[in-house]
Amino acid sequence: MEKVVSLCKRRGFIFQSSDIYGGLSNTWDYGPYGVELKNNLKRAWWKANVYERYDILGMDAAILMHPKVWEASGHVQNFFDLKSDCKSCKKRFKSADLKDKNKCPECGGALTEARPFNLMFKTYQGPIEESGNEIYMRPETAQGMLVNFLNILDSRHPKLPFGLAQIGKAFRNEITPGNFTFRTREFEQMEIEYFVKPLDADKALEDWITYRFNWYLDLGLKKESLRKRSHGKDELAHYARACTDIEYNFPFGWSELEGIANRTDFDLKQHSQYSGRDLQYFDDSTKERFYPYIIEPSGGVDRAVLAFLVDAYNEEKVRDDTRVVLKLHKDLAPTKVAVLPLLRNRPEIVELAKKIAQDLKKTIITVYDDTGAIGKLYRRQDEVGTLYCVTVDVQSLEDKQVTVRQRDTMLQERISIDKLKEYLSNKLT
Ligand code: GAP
Repeated sequence: MEKVVSLCKRRGFIFQSSDIYGGLSNTWDYGPYGVELKNNLKRAWWKANVYERYDILGMDAAILMHPKVWEASGHVQNFFDLKSDCKSCKKRFKSADLKDKNKCPECGGALTEARPFNLMFKTYQGPIEESGNEIYMRPETAQGMLVNFLNILDSRHPKLPFGLAQIGKAFRNEITPGNFTFRTREFEQMEIEYFVKPLDADKALEDWITYRFNWYLDLGLKKESLRKRSHGKDELAHYARACTDIEYNFPFGWSELEGIANRTDFDLKQHSQYSGRDLQYFDDSTKERFYPYIIEPSGGVDRAVLAFLVDAYNEEKVRDDTRVVLKLHKDLAPTKVAVLPLLRNRPEIVELAKKIAQDLKKTIITVYDDTGAIGKLYRRQDEVGTLYCVTVDVQSLEDKQVTVRQRDTMLQERISIDKLKEYLSNKLT
């Protein structure tokens, strides 16, 4: 884990937030490579869950919502962790993490009785900070889709089963964040609310578990590092009847990447009651009105990015050297191609390399680098997962060919410059 964290900082994937001020703990900024990886991951999710399906529509709801949403959803009443404070060192602990519920794990001091601690961040809307103006930062993106159920029915007229998909920020005032980007107070979720007839819910849950599990495999996570775990009755969220987590074997142990839950008709019924609007679905064929059940695959963007980084990290012996290589899936790799001149003090070579890079850039994410010897440039690109290095050398000036080196195999091929774009495009699709 330390090696991944160090690589992330060294190469510009992930930085501590507000670093120059000593950092804001458990808050992270994505740098130039990090944002590309994260965007690629989100794009892959959107493609698999919106574009490649006929039954899902995309959405992007606001982070701030009417405060009643969180009363109706049960978050005001139920979304809390139990915490205890140490009477001596004043540190705060999540009860579930404590081995001895009476003794401080840090200083041995006595702990207060466990008390509920709501995880929602509160702020004020408008110029006056008073309780009537309190508003929450959403703790899940889900509610933004659920309260738009009627708008979707009225504007797009979808028939059951259908789903809504959304990617966006969520906020939780976690008592014990940690493990790099695994648990933070500000994070991104990628969620689907899939509406089904109540009798179809069990089958839909199973189908979604399989579909979502395979998505992680298809993008390259190692099979042996991925598992499904169904929740015991005592673990279920207040709205869920059943839930299965997809877990990844992180360096700190098996932990949740995504939860796939059967939320039943809980949310639509609650919002109907609290809003006074009827959120039932009318089935044309049977002339019945009913509340659909909801199957919800809910994943964390940051957790998935972390899992893909950990999974892709490799150290390999190459002769007397060790190369670090991020073997990211081609759709996730932040940069696809790097163009490198073999001799940076030969203007004709530099010029040709820059021209090739500029041309590739129009269709393929390409970088140009001439800031070191070729061995060093290769290592640098391997570390950030660049799929192909294109080297321009003296011979290229004569035979109009370049050397293309593949990241994982390090095999090299001579390719004609006028065929290069086609060659790379074929490899990358
Ligand atoms: N709408 C359902 C829901 O929010 P959840 O299990 O609480 O369910 C879903 O969260 C996913 O969001 C988790 O599987 C995880 O990937 C991500 N997530 C939740 N809390 C997080 C946190 N504090 N930091 C990073 N990711 C988090």
